[in-house]
Amino acid sequence: MWIFGWKGPSGFSASSTAEEVTQGIDGTGLTAIVTGASSGIGVETTRVLALRGVHVVMAVRNVDAGRNVKESILKEIPGARIDVMELDLSSLASVRKFASDYESSSLPLNLLINNAGIMATPFMLSHDNIELQFATNHIGHFLLTNLLLETMKNTACKSNREGRIVNVSSEGHRFAYREGIRFDKINDESGYYSMFAYGQSKLANILHAKELAKRLKVHNMEDGVEITANSLHPGSIMTNLLRHHSFINAIGNMVGKYFLKNIPQGAATTCYVALHPQVKGVSAEYLSDSNISNPSSNAKDAELAKRLWDFSLILTNPK
Ligand SMILES: NC(=O)c1ccc[n+]([C@@H]2O[C@H](COP(=O)([O-])OP(=O)(O)OC[C@H]3O[C@@H](n4cnc5c(N)ncnc54)[C@H](OP(=O)(O)O)[C@@H]3O)[C@@H](O)[C@H]2O)c1
Repeated sequence: MWIFGWKGPSGFSASSTAEEVTQGIDGTGLTAIVTGASSGIGVETTRVLALRGVHVVMAVRNVDAGRNVKESILKEIPGARIDVMELDLSSLASVRKFASDYESSSLPLNLLINNAGIMATPFMLSHDNIELQFATNHIGHFLLTNLLLETMKNTACKSNREGRIVNVSSEGHRFAYREGIRFDKINDESGYYSMFAYGQSKLANILHAKELAKRLKVHNMEDGVEITANSLHPGSIMTNLLRHHSFINAIGNMVGKYFLKNIPQGAATTCYVALHPQVKGVSAEYLSDSNISNPSSNAKDAELAKRLWDFSLILTNPK
C-alpha cells in the first residue's frame, strides 16, 4: 500500500519513486530502448535512466512529441544521452524498419523496455489486420524483441554485462477473457470486450516474458551470455492511457491524486527491474512495487506461454 509505504523484501514499496529505486546506481556505458517514451511512464523511465547515465533511445510513433520530451529532459540534465527513433508497434513493417535502422546505427543494446501500450480501445484492426490492442501491446513487442535479440546478445558478450528485457504488463491481465488468450477468435468483433481484450494483451506480455526467459536460459548456457526477461505491473497512475474513456479519465484526474500512484512512482518498478543489482540473474518473474509478485494462474501456465509463442511467430512471419 503506497499510502502507508510498506516495504517489501527489496526494501522498496509502492510509494518508492524511480529516482529512489535507482539512487546511487551508475548506468554509464549502458544503452536502452524505451518504447512509448513520449508519454506517461515512458517519459519518466527515459528521464531517470538518462539521469543515471544510460544512453536512451526513445522509440516513439510521434517523433515530434518524442523530440519535445528529449528537449525538456536535456534542459534538466544537460549531459543526458538521448536519441529519438520512429516506431509504430501496430505495424509490423514499422517494427522491421526500426530494428533494421537500429542495427545500421551500430549502437549496442543492454536494456529493452517494452513499455508502450494502449488500453480498452473500441474494436479496431492494426495495419496487419490483427486486433489493435493485441497487435500493439503484444505482437509488435514480440517481433521487436526477436529482431533485437542478436544485438542484445552481442552487447552482453562484448560488455560482459547482463542484458535485461522488461515487459510493462498490468494487473489488468487478471481481467482477460476466461480462456486467457482467444487464439481462434483474436479478431472476433462480435465477442469483443475492450477491457477483456486489454487484459488479454497484458496477459500476453507476462507469458511472452516467461517463455522468452525459458528460451534465453538455454541460450545463456550455450553462449555464455546473460540476458533476463521479466514483466511487471507499474501500479495505477493517471496518464494518457485512458484516452478512450473520457468520463473515467475525468473522474480519475479529479480524485486520482488521493489514491493513485504519481508518475515518478509509476516508473519505479520499470527502473528497478532495468537497473537494480538486486535483480541480477532474476528472470521469468512478475514484479509489482519493485518486489517480486504473484500473477494469475493463466500467467503461470507454461503450456499457454508456449502456445502464445508459436501463435505469435505465425502472426509475425506470414507466409
Ligand atoms: N497508467 C496505468 O495506470 C497503467 C497501469 C498498468 C499498466 N500500464 C502500462 O504502462 C504502459 C505505459 O502506459 P502509460 O500509462 O504511460 O500510458 P500513456 O501515457 O498513454 O503512454 C503510452 C505510450 O505508448 C505509446 N504508444 C501507443 N501506441 C503505440 C504504437 N502503436 N506504437 C508506438 N507507441 C505507441 C504512446 O504513444 P502516443 O503518445 O503517440 O500515443 C505513449 O507514448 C502501458 O503498457 C500500460 O499498459 C499502465
